[in-house]
Amino acid sequence: MKIISSIKELRDQLRGQRGIVFVPTMGNIHEGHLSLIRLAGQHGERVVVSIFVNQLQFGPGEDFVKYPRTLDRDIEKLQQENVYMLFAPTEQDMYPSPQEYQIYPPHDLCYTLEGKFRTRFFCGVSTVVMKLISCVQPRIMVFGKKDYQQLIIVRQMCEQFALPVEVCAAETIRDADGLALSSRNTYLTPSERSEAPTLFRILQHIRSTVLTTGHRDFTKIELSAFQTLIERGWQPDYIAIRKRANLRLPQLHKEHEPLIVLIAAQLGKTRLIDNLEI
Ligand code: PAJ
Repeated sequence: MKIISSIKELRDQLRGQRGIVFVPTMGNIHEGHLSLIRLAGQHGERVVVSIFVNQLQFGPGEDFVKYPRTLDRDIEKLQQENVYMLFAPTEQDMYPSPQEYQIYPPHDLCYTLEGKFRTRFFCGVSTVVMKLISCVQPRIMVFGKKDYQQLIIVRQMCEQFALPVEVCAAETIRDADGLALSSRNTYLTPSERSEAPTLFRILQHIRSTVLTTGHRDFTKIELSAFQTLIERGWQPDYIAIRKRANLRLPQLHKEHEPLIVLIAAQLGKTRLIDNLEI
């Protein structure tokens, strides 16, 4: 695996190469990331992974400073996989001057759900992904469904800018008890860790309620789940049943449109997100 830390070196190394499959990450590599890398490997031989903790997508008071940075261990894990190149740029290399040109996704996607609670998040994500695409010039990129809204926003950005890249979605990888793998799980205390799978159980409960009863009173279902989380000591931000295609509110008369339920809640000091397709 080649390890590259500057944009110039990356361009020199990748010049003229076609069919690159790209997996952007912020590191602290876990089985969720590795599953994206394995899926990438099914789409082409030249898999490029990036590790960059992107300050632009963190708000003031969020966890940019304490975000787990484990580059040496990450490199060991990536070396076990079929990774052609790791691009791990420095802050100075990605943002040599303040990034004043930025991507602003459409308002209704950018400031709903996650965007309502993390107002800079999707501008920061879209901007860094656009810049990484410009550096790596992949034919295919792989994103996880774990961050479903991010996946939809990046996919629409690539479509609207006619970028010559296809966005593939990978399933969420979970621990045996259902908790979706996330770098932020490392913040959980042992007792919080045993409570954390509640999030997935709630998603499963909502899914089966909608599927078995054909229940269309989504607000009632969402409120009841909200209440359950509060009673168990969580601080929920949102629990929302939305259209899978664009995350808009479902239309009550359309029984057969694909839906998804999304959740974000804080447990102690840790904010977790998850979702489940219905
Ligand atoms: P990061 O949180 O490191 O995630 C990198 C990729 O791994 C994302 O596509 C994410 O959806 C996926 N992923 C995370 N946990 C997963 C799990 N349990 N199962 C499957 N896939 C999982 O997402 C980011 O970084 C950043 O926002 C980034 C896109 C790199 C831009 O900075």
